[in-house]
Amino acid sequence: AAAEKGGFASFMDKEIHDQPQAVTDTLLGRTDIAGHLVLDDLRIDESVLRSVDKIVVIACGTAAYAGHVAKYAIEHWCRIPVEVELAHEFRYRDPVVNERTLVVAISQSGETMDTLMAVRHAREQGAKVLAICNTHGSTIPRESDAVLYTHAGPEIAVASTKAFLAQITATYVLGLYLAQLRGNLFPDEITEIFDQLRAMPDKIQIVLDRSDEVRKTAQDMVDTTSVLFLGRHVGFPVALEGALKLKELAYIHAEGFAAGELKHGPIALIEEGQAAFVIVPSPRGRHSLHSKVISNIQEIRARGARTLVIAEDGDDAVAPFADVVFSVPRCPTLLAPLLTVVPLQIFACELATVRGLDVDQPRNLAKSVTVE
Ligand code: G6P
Repeated sequence: AAAEKGGFASFMDKEIHDQPQAVTDTLLGRTDIAGHLVLDDLRIDESVLRSVDKIVVIACGTAAYAGHVAKYAIEHWCRIPVEVELAHEFRYRDPVVNERTLVVAISQSGETMDTLMAVRHAREQGAKVLAICNTHGSTIPRESDAVLYTHAGPEIAVASTKAFLAQITATYVLGLYLAQLRGNLFPDEITEIFDQLRAMPDKIQIVLDRSDEVRKTAQDMVDTTSVLFLGRHVGFPVALEGALKLKELAYIHAEGFAAGELKHGPIALIEEGQAAFVIVPSPRGRHSLHSKVISNIQEIRARGARTLVIAEDGDDAVAPFADVVFSVPRCPTLLAPLLTVVPLQIFACELATVRGLDVDQPRNLAKSVTVE
């Protein structure tokens, strides 16, 4: 087993470090000789995909958060409304889906029963289902109309890390494919975004190379009982995933919020010493979100919070209000989750490790939940 871990202390640690490769491999072979994007296994007429008027992403756990990221990118690039729903909720609420709905089922294992039942239900309603899956020949892709495989390699640790980055990457590929098919973006825009995507693995590696400070912060927080995670725009699902990782691995109460929601309730939780991660959007973004999130950091810090800030390289505005800053390389806003989630994974893994827990097999959890 030690050899399989490739010198890392755990599969989790190894898989976190496999992430540049997982993204690289998921992007391989996505373009034909003419430079057009292609999917792996498409049994849906292109004319049907052109007339799709809604996308519904169904998934559970970490895969559902990949769906949340997808919503921001696909709506922006393709102008198709995207809903994201937990598969077990979707299945039992009489959802509005029909022949013009594309359902995207995201599952690392391809065997999650809740997601499979939702796939079957969607197809019964006439919807086309595209699976984003990491396991060749598993049930969900076999029962779907199209497949886009993530190439993260086998994921052994129960809590998902590299499959998550690969899933996000696959949804970007899907979004660009649909934009190409439906003419929402110019070919050179698609090429440019795809090139930016191809530059992400090296940037993920840079984040990994900077992990010492994250680890040290986690070690210092061994006795922490509660951590909050705040993010906005694509940083919101990253906050949710950061909280989930901490619950799963370290059994610490954690909650992710949309930073804009802070003043509508969660700010009441802030008291002296409360630790809060804040994912700060790029100051170069088109919106004023950067300054809004900086204000959030000031608000919680003024009330005693310990602020652990994830920000872009060169973002000087955050430093005065941050107890610690974890910097990530610059990249386009929509692609940033591939970078900003990595310190949160390392934080959860390290904190669980210093608490003496088995990060590969957390209590009560299963890698693949094959019962409803
Ligand atoms: C389980 C795992 C999670 C995973 C979820 C969905 O709960 O512990 O890590 O995110 O299932 O699994 P899937 O294989 O469908 O992506």
